[in-house]
Amino acid sequence: MTNSSTLQLRVAAIDRPHPLLCRLVLRAFDGASLPPYDPGAHLQVAVHLPDGKVDWRHYSLVNFDASEAARSRPDHYLLGVRLEPAGRGGSRFMHGLVVGDTVTARSPRNDFPFGDGNAPALVVAGGIGVTPLVSMVTECRRRGRPVRMLYASRSRDQMLFVDELRLLLGDDLSLHADEEAARPVDVASVLDTCSPDEVLYVCGPQPLLDALLSGARQRGWPPERIRFELFSAPQMQLGDQPFDVVLVGSRQTLRVGVDQSILECLEAAGCDVLADCRRGECGVCVVPVLDGDVDHRDHVLSTAERDAGKLIQICVSRAKGPRLVLDL
Ligand code: FES
Repeated sequence: MTNSSTLQLRVAAIDRPHPLLCRLVLRAFDGASLPPYDPGAHLQVAVHLPDGKVDWRHYSLVNFDASEAARSRPDHYLLGVRLEPAGRGGSRFMHGLVVGDTVTARSPRNDFPFGDGNAPALVVAGGIGVTPLVSMVTECRRRGRPVRMLYASRSRDQMLFVDELRLLLGDDLSLHADEEAARPVDVASVLDTCSPDEVLYVCGPQPLLDALLSGARQRGWPPERIRFELFSAPQMQLGDQPFDVVLVGSRQTLRVGVDQSILECLEAAGCDVLADCRRGECGVCVVPVLDGDVDHRDHVLSTAERDAGKLIQICVSRAKGPRLVLDL
């Protein structure tokens, strides 16, 4: 380890159960225990991209060991990584690692805390979104908290950690493979079979998350009954257009391109703006809107706040028209 927050880790094991999936075990070079983490936490790993840049990617920490030591003094970190062939190269870097390689990482942090409650938990994983949820179901078993898990994926061979999850959860694990069922998960029936006190934890791709969140809203679920993490970075949507942002405070007008967020545009212009998750989940990047229609794409603002149109999460949301005037 180089300092309290940056770690030099050795790839101790790697296996590839499917061409798009790998499991990596990282350990300290001296065999020492690693910084602790809680269920839902992730490791930031420095990845080398094809354009020569080094960037950071988040990988959830996977844990099947219910002992206290496994989290408070872990002797390894287990990650699951899905290869995104069309991505910028972070997952290609991870898939190209071999045993003995060194990776640089930052100490674990947690943007998806599990909490101390003991209400029954329904855990819904979509694809590689299973990774933060494994530690949560392990924690449920440790505490005796009732839990059941639905794990959905395109096909059965694209599911990671199924054998371990079966051992841990037995009949409390349900698998859904789109290919076998010839349809995606029936979100309405998932929500309709929940007991009134069940809390939902979700991690997966945007369509699954959107369907569960809007279904929960329609059923009048209070927001605290559904906890989620979006697995992939926000995607461009068909029909996205460039638009201008007018910054009233600094009297600048900037052009936001089709392939960038308002946040990225402001950062490129040297503006000092607050942000954290960059996925529309944490609320940190909120900015007052003085004029223009907002295309809200976050998971933070309430329906009333969206309808009022006075706030925008600049990491994901865009303009519906040619211009937005921001109080910046
Ligand atoms: S940075 Fe988290 S919502 Fe925008």
